[in-house]
Amino acid sequence: MSSDPLALPSLDEAFGPDPYPMYAKLREAGPVHRVLGPEGRPVWLITRYPEARAALADPALSLDRSNAAPGAYGGLSLPPVLDANLLNMDGADHARLRRLVAPAFSAARMEALRERVHGVAAELLTEAAAKAGTAPVDLVEAYAAPLSLTLLCDILGVDRAESQRFHRWTAIVLDPSASSRAQLKDALEGIVTSLARQIAAKRAEPGPDLLSALVTAHDGDDRLNSDELLSLAFLLLFAGYENTVNAIAATAAAALTEPGLRERLAAEPDAVAALVEEVIRFDGPVELAIRRFPTQDVEIGGVRIPAGEPVLIALGSAHRDPEAYDRPDEISLDRDTRPGTLGFGHGPHYCLGAALARLETTTAVTVLLQRHPQAVLAVPRGELRPRPSVRTRGLAQLPVRLGPEL
Ligand code: HEM
Repeated sequence: MSSDPLALPSLDEAFGPDPYPMYAKLREAGPVHRVLGPEGRPVWLITRYPEARAALADPALSLDRSNAAPGAYGGLSLPPVLDANLLNMDGADHARLRRLVAPAFSAARMEALRERVHGVAAELLTEAAAKAGTAPVDLVEAYAAPLSLTLLCDILGVDRAESQRFHRWTAIVLDPSASSRAQLKDALEGIVTSLARQIAAKRAEPGPDLLSALVTAHDGDDRLNSDELLSLAFLLLFAGYENTVNAIAATAAAALTEPGLRERLAAEPDAVAALVEEVIRFDGPVELAIRRFPTQDVEIGGVRIPAGEPVLIALGSAHRDPEAYDRPDEISLDRDTRPGTLGFGHGPHYCLGAALARLETTTAVTVLLQRHPQAVLAVPRGELRPRPSVRTRGLAQLPVRLGPEL
């Protein structure tokens, strides 16, 4: 592609609400391109599966923003107190934090949450159905979002009243286009202050929750400082919340609209888990991995990338690479998943919450289909719109007529 910045396709505009045709073009032309990233600055974009997979695990590609070349990247500016988070660090620092927090997310601990997840999903759906009567229900607002947030607050140990406030704040942070800068700043400050207060409360009186476990590790050997604790809690809330909401909504939308899928899932309820994997491949919540910065000049797919220049890994494009997946633009429950999904990342930063996210998404869609077997989309499929975002993919709304409850 041209090296003239003015001629570069922009991630904001050229990719638009359906980025896949653009990805197909770029993939065909090569594995690595220069495009205009957020804020109109040039970034490198990796589009093919093998290069994307390798880049996710490449220690020469740093997530630490201090490795960015001066002025190379703007990105979302979080309060500096939140810098000490897993997705902004590498190597030994990252491994240390990860060791502290990982046990709380083990597959066994997530399995112990299964009943609770089912209970919250059933309760939310009953509430939503009662409120809506025969009118459509927005399953993003009434189901996916409160399910994801309630469970995260449970795990972290954030009380119910506070979780309502988180719901308001997160809605603002996740849809900045709908709010003013001042509202965004207030929401971020609200979250930070509230988390700091919760951490102080856990320090005074630890409970069986994750925040208490982290506070104890911090107090015991002084390895987690207050900023690290706060950053970690914030990251868990955000990395966990939005992506899970988006996965639930996308999987529900596919289940309700893909030809033949309803019947198949009714006959084979366990196949919902395969649908979740397939939707995360086909149109997963994380379109672009977190930006990385080479710590030295690197060569990827035959292209030299200078140290410090931001690199974006297009998971959404890698997942449609026809060299990796047969008929990649179709949703198929029978697909050979062997290349391995990159939807939860790969390598040292592999998603900590993958088991939780899979459990929540599978349960949410199973409960929906079982309780409301006649649920239908309340608008034509083509009218469903993604929430505007450069990095993530998620439906803004999912209006559904639930129909009678079984
Ligand atoms: C379907 C839902 C989810 C998806 C698609 C998803 C996706 C991802 C991806 C792609 C990464 C790697 C980012 C990169 O390397 O650039 C990641 C990292 C992470 N995710 Fe998730 N995630 C989901 C749910 C969750 C949940 C529920 C939690 C926690 C409650 C969570 C916590 C994290 C954390 C802490 C990291 C950083 C790990 C590290 O840097 O070591 N995620 N996630």
